[in-house]
Amino acid sequence: MKALNTSVICGVIGAGAMGAGIAQVAAQAGHSVLLYDNREGAASTAIETIERQLTRLVEKGKFTAEQVAGIIGRLQPADSLSDFAGAGFVLEAIVENPDVKRGLLEQLESICSADCILATNTSSLSVTSLGAGRQHPQRIVGMHFFNPAPVMKLVEVVSGLETDKAIAECVFATAKAWGKEPVYARSTPGFIVNRVARPFYAESLRLLQEQAADCATLDAIMREAGGFRMGAFELTDMIGHDVNYAVTKSVFDGYYGDFRFQPSLIQKELVDAGLLGRKSGRGFYSCSENAVKPEAGSVSVSGDPVPGCTVLGDSGVLSSLVSRLASAGVMVTSESSSDACVLRIGSATVALTDGRMACQRARDEGLNNLVLVDLALDYSQSGRLAVSRAANTSDAALQQVADCFAKADIRISEVSDVPGLVVMRTVAMLANEGADTVLHGVASAAGVDTAMRAGVNYPRGPLLWAEQLGLPETLAVLENLQQAYGEERYRPSLLLRRLALQGGRFHG
Ligand code: NAI
Repeated sequence: MKALNTSVICGVIGAGAMGAGIAQVAAQAGHSVLLYDNREGAASTAIETIERQLTRLVEKGKFTAEQVAGIIGRLQPADSLSDFAGAGFVLEAIVENPDVKRGLLEQLESICSADCILATNTSSLSVTSLGAGRQHPQRIVGMHFFNPAPVMKLVEVVSGLETDKAIAECVFATAKAWGKEPVYARSTPGFIVNRVARPFYAESLRLLQEQAADCATLDAIMREAGGFRMGAFELTDMIGHDVNYAVTKSVFDGYYGDFRFQPSLIQKELVDAGLLGRKSGRGFYSCSENAVKPEAGSVSVSGDPVPGCTVLGDSGVLSSLVSRLASAGVMVTSESSSDACVLRIGSATVALTDGRMACQRARDEGLNNLVLVDLALDYSQSGRLAVSRAANTSDAALQQVADCFAKADIRISEVSDVPGLVVMRTVAMLANEGADTVLHGVASAAGVDTAMRAGVNYPRGPLLWAEQLGLPETLAVLENLQQAYGEERYRPSLLLRRLALQGGRFHG
């Protein structure tokens, strides 16, 4: 299906954060764009702001002055909705209220030609229900941009029950022509990103609630070991707790209270207290100008001689960690073993978390001085790793692990003996949600991974990440979490289980 020709006039309704950005994207791609807002003067002000921002980019060499003049020349404020009569594509980015949006779509039906595409940028409403009762529901489609629209690559192209496939394909091709990375999604609560991302927040919030570590430590682990740009607490402080909590609540309600999406009580407390994050000056952190950000907890280094590391069995996922230790001058030896891989560092037995608590695993496998290590995006790069230990693991054993890892410039943060540590449980849950999204036909596996990279900057698509970890291993983490908590929340997706059992993959 072809993209809209640039001769097609685009209409954008709502000149707020999203509408203005989307109007800019369409004008940059070469369309004439009409921008309307029911607040007097808002559309003109938005266009002036776009001009100021683009002019700054001319100074930085990102655009020429001629290009900016062309873009601004193609942006026109509209006086009323009747100006949209000649548009071939109209996108609404008005207030997130279903009745107001439905009323607007009804009005547009009487103004626009029957073949004009009517797109909605809704982030949480059902595209199916917005199309219900319209004369031509097949031309109503979700085109969900991310904030800021000129920067973020992802566009979710969301089909309601009655959306014509050809219309969705045209919007997909158009988003591509506009320089975006579109993915198809079916209209379901949260679409792709707002659904699959829930565990990113939920697991950190739960770990905080269980006092596994403080916010600064958990955030540092997610950044420095997980490779995420921000941890959940700094990110939700930035997003605003009212907004983030409302999204979680709407997905939770949308799935009839599925425990996988259960909102967090500690986040609700912040909302109730009006501690909304940056916009109110305080959330999990103080956001005032001279606030000093708390430091992440790290086990300090003793200065004693660094013990060697003996690898028992196949080092598997930890092989790049072992190579890094060796390159840093740690004496590494190996011994064959039929059991799963463990590292002996001084008196400590070090193993990758498999979702069991350290106390459970030490008992199951008869291991002494057990130190569990968390998943990292890339062990050859990470500056920090989370660890946990069983109750009878000595301080000396933990110290030896800290000293050994410090030789390779890896700091360790100890968290309490929680199942699946921090990065591992988050990645397993993200992949699990991604798997159900694929199982339910909401998106393809490639769509899920693209959406999470391009929409929320994840360092790796969660389904690919699970494949690299091993699907049977990811499944085991979830099963162990489910067993430890005895909760529905960690139930493994049928698709993940099926692929793990079949030796299959998400990505062909
Ligand atoms: P906003 O509050 O910044 O802008 C909304 C604009 O729509 C305002 O300028 C308002 O005056 C105007 N408006 C309200 N009702 C109107 C009507 N009946 N007719 C014409 N104009 C009207 O909101 P924002 O953040 O731009 O969100 C707009 C839409 O985009 C919502 O559906 C939201 O869920 C969605 N969205 C928001 C994202 C975000 O991060 N802010 C991300 C993706 C989607």
